Amino acid sequence: MSHKPLKRLAVFASGFGSNLGAIIDYMEKNSVNGSLVLVFSNNPKAPALNRAVQHNIKTCVLEPRDYGSREEYDRQIAAVVQENKIDLIILAGYMLLLSSWFVEKYKNRIMNIHPSLLPAFKGMHGIKDAFDWGVKITGVTVHFVDGKLDHGPIILQKEVPVSQSDTLSSLEEKIHKVEHVLYPEAIGYYCQDRLRIKKRKVIITGIEKE
Ligand code: GRF
Repeated sequence: MSHKPLKRLAVFASGFGSNLGAIIDYMEKNSVNGSLVLVFSNNPKAPALNRAVQHNIKTCVLEPRDYGSREEYDRQIAAVVQENKIDLIILAGYMLLLSSWFVEKYKNRIMNIHPSLLPAFKGMHGIKDAFDWGVKITGVTVHFVDGKLDHGPIILQKEVPVSQSDTLSSLEEKIHKVEHVLYPEAIGYYCQDRLRIKKRKVIITGIEKE
């Protein structure tokens, strides 16, 4: 058992929350040096919130329309992050862009998952865009968040082959299956203090050379 203090994790989710479910499951079944202490959403109707409640995880909802500007909104979120002493913010289908103020404040402490092999197919429709393009290999990327969309240092990537018989929905299913393994793995490395960031490169100690 590690004697390092447990990392305090928050998941930000706006929707369904299947990645949140996979993270909860992983944390419950494995000895991870971390604790998921907060689920935050901008959307009071997000099914992700119900998953959190079912697992006795604290939830918080703030709606952007109640704030004068995006930065004011993000400052209120930062106050919640502070109050809950969060080490790592995990974006899992969080549909709002974070302000540059927020991203700078939590530099190297925000992770995101994207359903393509970045830097290909950035943006909201990574799976469909790759499918429509006719790629034969796509995949999943877990990365740290920086000031540009789907751009920060890459922690893990995993390829997903696209077969002749795939439809958009069968490809989505394959991608989500991979996401649900890759995200917990990356979070596990963070909790074990195994991620070293050197400019754009993330080195996983014990697997990759520093
Ligand atoms: C995932 O495909 C993730 O890659 C993207 O948003 C989706 C969230 O799905 N960023 P869920 O809410 O975790 O089911």
